[in-house]
Amino acid sequence: MTALLTLDRVRRVHGETVILDDVSFAVEEGRFITLFGPNGCGKTTLMNILTGVDTPSGGTLHGAESVRGHIGFVFQDYRRTLLPWRSGRENILLPLRLRGMDRREQIRRLDRLVAKMNPDFDLHQRIYTLSGGQAQMIGLMRALIIEPRLLILDEPFSALDYGRTLAYRQLIMTVARDFNLTTLFISHDLEEALYLGDEVIFLTAKPTRVREVMTIPFPRHREPSLLGTPAFAALKLKGLANVELA
Ligand SMILES: Nc1ncnc2c1ncn2[C@@H]1O[C@H](COP(=O)(O)OP(=O)(O)O)[C@@H](O)[C@H]1O
Ligand SMILES: [Mg+2]
Repeated sequence: MTALLTLDRVRRVHGETVILDDVSFAVEEGRFITLFGPNGCGKTTLMNILTGVDTPSGGTLHGAESVRGHIGFVFQDYRRTLLPWRSGRENILLPLRLRGMDRREQIRRLDRLVAKMNPDFDLHQRIYTLSGGQAQMIGLMRALIIEPRLLILDEPFSALDYGRTLAYRQLIMTVARDFNLTTLFISHDLEEALYLGDEVIFLTAKPTRVREVMTIPFPRHREPSLLGTPAFAALKLKGLANVELA
């Protein structure tokens, strides 16, 4: 397998504070990687470094240059990253508008995406009228409309209730498979990280390092009933060894 991205001893310091101490891992093409770590350990910082919004204080990124501009990003705080007075449609199309894409081509892409994702609400509705789950669906579609080479999701479900979270996990798995995406999914929920990932990267608290990279033995596509199996419980027990009690 070829690595789409490799992080080699990435470091990020703010003044005296070391956030990322030494972070190395590879993201191979087509893989679903979950990044698990406590709040404040620098997960968002790390993603900002990948997208070029932030710069590392040390270390090297391989492959980032060629993947930039092709990263779809789903934010944790979708309410603040969607334009509330605009419709769902206009929010989804925004990245294409910013790229100056021909309007007819924009609409063609949108139609294709809608046919695949099948949202059960009207995309002409303005964002402020949508539920949390619907708004996050817009966030996801906005990330996918650019036909990304890498999809990054930064704790995208942390504001959703449990049932909706389960449904969205399924949707993300389906999307990753159908669009043949390389995915980086950030989570601070152990169950979620193990359930979704081909690989889980466990981060320490800051100053942050990679504590363990765990390969998950379950094939995709997974179903919620997996969560109740002895095999999943055994994996969770292994994962728990990497969790620091705060
Ligand atoms: N611009 C900044 N200046 C100083 N400290 C920052 C800055 N940005 C983030 N931090 C600190 O870096 C740490 C990691 O933040 P963040 O990447 O948001 O963590 P996570 O996403 O894992 O919760 C936090 O302690 C935060 O306060
Ligand atoms: Mg964060």
